[in-house]
Amino acid sequence: MARAEELIREFVRRYGGDEAGIRAYRAPGRVNLIGEHTDYNGGPVFPAALTFGTSLLIRPRTDRRIGLASLNFPQAAGEFALDGLAVRREDDWMIYPKAVIRELDLRGIRLSRGYDLLYHGEIPNGAGLSSSASIEVVTAYALLVMEGHEPDPVRLAQWCQHAENEFVGVRCGIMDQFAVANGKKDHAILLCCDTLEYRHVPCRTGEYRLVIGNTNKKRGLADSKYNERRAECERAVLMLRAARPGLRFLAELTPDEFRAAEHLIGDETVRRRARHVVEECERVLRSVEALEKGDLAAFGSLMNASHDSLRDLYEVTGPELDAMAAAARDVPGVLGSRMTGAGFGGCTVSLVHRDAVDRFIGEVGARYREATGLTADFYVADIGDGVRRLGE
Ligand code: GLA
Repeated sequence: MARAEELIREFVRRYGGDEAGIRAYRAPGRVNLIGEHTDYNGGPVFPAALTFGTSLLIRPRTDRRIGLASLNFPQAAGEFALDGLAVRREDDWMIYPKAVIRELDLRGIRLSRGYDLLYHGEIPNGAGLSSSASIEVVTAYALLVMEGHEPDPVRLAQWCQHAENEFVGVRCGIMDQFAVANGKKDHAILLCCDTLEYRHVPCRTGEYRLVIGNTNKKRGLADSKYNERRAECERAVLMLRAARPGLRFLAELTPDEFRAAEHLIGDETVRRRARHVVEECERVLRSVEALEKGDLAAFGSLMNASHDSLRDLYEVTGPELDAMAAAARDVPGVLGSRMTGAGFGGCTVSLVHRDAVDRFIGEVGARYREATGLTADFYVADIGDGVRRLGE
């Protein structure tokens, strides 16, 4: 994290005045342990908040304008009138805070005054670790608290997801915003994305560490491919209604029920997409059971099966993620490895024995470079808390 004093100095340099009245907030990134592309299908997911995230300094203004700046994007800063705020594609990273302000307005929360905001993010962008959800949630949380509200973390996640769907144009599910808002140190979150019932599950990995590998592959076209997958799932539901008229989500079917009805899906590609979703939902529940029993080998196998299904049935991995996951599985002491997040580039997560972590980073990094020409980054994941105010 940029040191707090450094951030405050930059805030004062940019916006003037002194330290008085500046408040600090922070939201984490997230890693999804298993349950990929299940959230918008009403299924379970199993993400955890990370210890790295986005810090936000905020101070009220005396007019009705919003100042936006980030240490990460010094060239992209701006000042906007609060009333009639427009969200535009060209807004760069500022699209996220602007979308959130529009969303609050939509929910009847009209800000009583303007604010200056300064962000600092430690989450690599476009890596599938939810840097955007982190910006959205920290912004919504900070503004609500500054306006005298007590944000409810579940509602916060729903509003930020809606902001991204409506104003950013990505039809994401609720997993990322939910994990960022509701994370708990050393716990993963088992969330049912239909009912939003959830529980924190102690992430007891014993002698094993969760290691995140960043392919550093830019996720071009990711948003349109993501929306396309979502549309394919919706088509599958429509076709399955011939046998199950009330069906709302693919996640309502067990693998057996799906097998009995899959002939109704005429399009072979759509059928494979749907099969991934149904089987992935079951893998999530089996993973939680395995983790709770301390059966890490079983959890690792389920991670592998998840990746293979995302590669072969859902087709969202690509050569970079596949090369990295394959290299990871060959390192002794690795129980499982899979892509995490939307896919099409981004990160893998692997379950690695603590004594094998250095070797893992060396060998996977080398083999990945050989296969793709790209240099990977690795982070040993520590699981942290959800959004909060700093310095209380
Ligand atoms: C992205 C989306 C999530 C989820 C994952 C895939 O991270 O924002 O809602 O759909 O992809 O599991």
